[in-house]
Amino acid sequence: MKKSIITIAAAVCMAAVLTACGGSQTKTKTETTAAATEKAGTEAASGETSAEGSEAATEAAGGKLVMVTNAEFPPYEFRENNDIVGIDADIARAIAEKLGMELEIQDMAFDSLIPAIQSGKADFAAAGMTVNEDRKKNVDFTDTYAEAAQVIIVKEDSDIASPDDLTGKKIGVQTGTTGDIYADDIENGDIQRFNKGMEAVMSLTQGKIDAVIIDREPAKVFVKENEGLKILDEAFTEEEYAIAIKKGNTELVDKFNTAIKELKESGEFQKIVDKYITAE
Ligand code: ARG
Repeated sequence: MKKSIITIAAAVCMAAVLTACGGSQTKTKTETTAAATEKAGTEAASGETSAEGSEAATEAAGGKLVMVTNAEFPPYEFRENNDIVGIDADIARAIAEKLGMELEIQDMAFDSLIPAIQSGKADFAAAGMTVNEDRKKNVDFTDTYAEAAQVIIVKEDSDIASPDDLTGKKIGVQTGTTGDIYADDIENGDIQRFNKGMEAVMSLTQGKIDAVIIDREPAKVFVKENEGLKILDEAFTEEEYAIAIKKGNTELVDKFNTAIKELKESGEFQKIVDKYITAE
């Protein structure tokens, strides 16, 4: 029965204006706002994801999920040409596909992500976002999907050898991140906030600051891209990432958790991670 629905949908698609059905075939690519809104209604007709047979797909068919992120955070989210790619972006696409929903990704400042969810502008944020108690007051989180850490980047010849040596130093962070929050506790620390992690790293290479506190995986990327930097062995903190969803939307949290679980069990999740993080 499912099969025949798909066949009919396909036939309808073929008969219809080509672009009206394009969404289902190309839905893994980042949609820009106007086009995505126009296409949202045609997703249900394509029935493509009903092959999964999941209840969520039937319920959600035809809907659109708006994800917000800050695409300054390789390998989790970054820009490649005009597309937003990375672990979070790919996982979000895989989840949307499972739910039979179209995905739109919007890029914004990291500290605007939670407000965007709270105001209903966005359905969720996938942004290498660390779960913490403060954020839990404003959003709900899915199950965690990655282990992470705040690490310290310094110049290769730096006299800073451990987190204890940060006292009284000039420290760069990305505004509103957990690095920013923890840096605040450093005794006599002179905290310099940047819109992008990469800008903090540039400031370090220019000798304007003494250290950068940032998540481990982006730190590795930035250190690789810039000569003369190193990551201290001792992490500043250990933490975990999860997807943030509007407070009280347990239905969406449940759907996401199920999808994440399925992606982990099928190995698809690991495949996405391996695409962006190569084992050392
Ligand atoms: N894990 C840190 C936090 O949650 C930093 C995340 C930054 N993410 C980004 N997409 N820029 O605060």
